[in-house]
Amino acid sequence: MSYIVYLNGQYLPIEDAKISVLDRGFTFGDGVYEVIPVYKGHIFRMREHLERLNNSLDEVYIDRPYTLEQWQEILCKLVEKNSGKNTGNDLSLYMQVTRGISERDHAIDIATKQTVFAMCRPLPEYDRSAGISAIIEEDIRWKYCHIKAITLLPSVMLRHKARDAGATEAILVKDGYITEGAASNVFIVKNGIVKTPPKDGSLLPGITRDLVVELLTESGIPCEEVAIKETELKQADEIWITSSTWEIVPVISLDNNPVGTGRPGEVWQQASEIYQAFKTDMTNVV
Ligand code: PDD
Repeated sequence: MSYIVYLNGQYLPIEDAKISVLDRGFTFGDGVYEVIPVYKGHIFRMREHLERLNNSLDEVYIDRPYTLEQWQEILCKLVEKNSGKNTGNDLSLYMQVTRGISERDHAIDIATKQTVFAMCRPLPEYDRSAGISAIIEEDIRWKYCHIKAITLLPSVMLRHKARDAGATEAILVKDGYITEGAASNVFIVKNGIVKTPPKDGSLLPGITRDLVVELLTESGIPCEEVAIKETELKQADEIWITSSTWEIVPVISLDNNPVGTGRPGEVWQQASEIYQAFKTDMTNVV
């Protein structure tokens, strides 16, 4: 089925959206991206996602193509073209900025004009209460994981390993400590205390992660941003992963061993209810 995408100032059917084979996104993976959930036509935590996009752009020396207001206008128009407001259609909004077209040369040509692409797809529906299984893998990625770069080969390989093992996600370990999932952030619960690794170059500052930390703290559920050892992960009562598309999902099996009782935990249940209440309260959705 055809749908409308945004490419460099134009809204057009996906099959008409074409870019050059010399685009540096294609030859070097030279670009950054965002994925934002859209609930009933409302772009969830848009400002936070756009600010993170700007941080990613600044870090890799790509000029910001638009102001926040311009982005907002473009994205709202794209969402409207794909569903219209209040249709009940939840979407996943993908947006990508590459450095643009140049001869294949690693060195950056500052005259290059960015390529800007965005599309909306239906947000996959998950039965979160069923939980997922995960495996532990060595974090083989680079030192700048706080940048949301389109250069995702290690993550693709890690996800493949997870799927090969019959699991959904790979939880990554670097020097004995948990960093994050291949495409998610990680939380553990031990004796009623929720923990997630602190934000540094080893993980993406997840928008969902930050919101979960904020909501738990507001609700009086103890939540700490602290380093988590692999051994703590293995002994956790509960493990959750979070992302814009997954929200909060309980991990019920780790490397084929049950996590806690082997069923989604009580603290996850509480966190999930708080998150859903926040999400559906449209006054919170900007
Ligand atoms: N990924 N860590 C990594 C490595 C991720 O790729 C993602 C999200 C997250 C969670 O971040 P957020 O809560 O802001 O979605 C953490 C997206 C969904 C993706 O690549 O499709």
